[in-house]
Amino acid sequence: MFKRLDNPAPTEEIEIWLEGRPQRVPATLNAAAAVLWLSGAKGYRAHAPGGSRAPLCMMGVCHECLMTIDGAPNRQGCLVPVAEGMRLERQRRPS
Ligand code: FES
Repeated sequence: MFKRLDNPAPTEEIEIWLEGRPQRVPATLNAAAAVLWLSGAKGYRAHAPGGSRAPLCMMGVCHECLMTIDGAPNRQGCLVPVAEGMRLERQRRPS
């Protein structure tokens, strides 16, 4: 679905936490892109009937990127830049 473009400029990395595990990601990503970067689109988020969902628009329209960010559920991950120490959790069940 999404593919990162080659970027010849070195990108600073920061540490975030994905479901309790420390991970290093480029500092230029948003939270949704960071999760895609780390684990791919499969299983990004569970949907009520049991299907899986993944970010689609990456611009705040579709709400397919909902996640828990620093303990706050139902945040649009595509609109939140990653930050050092940020804690992300995929939403496995509707909340
Ligand atoms: S990916 Fe569409 S609102 Fe975030």
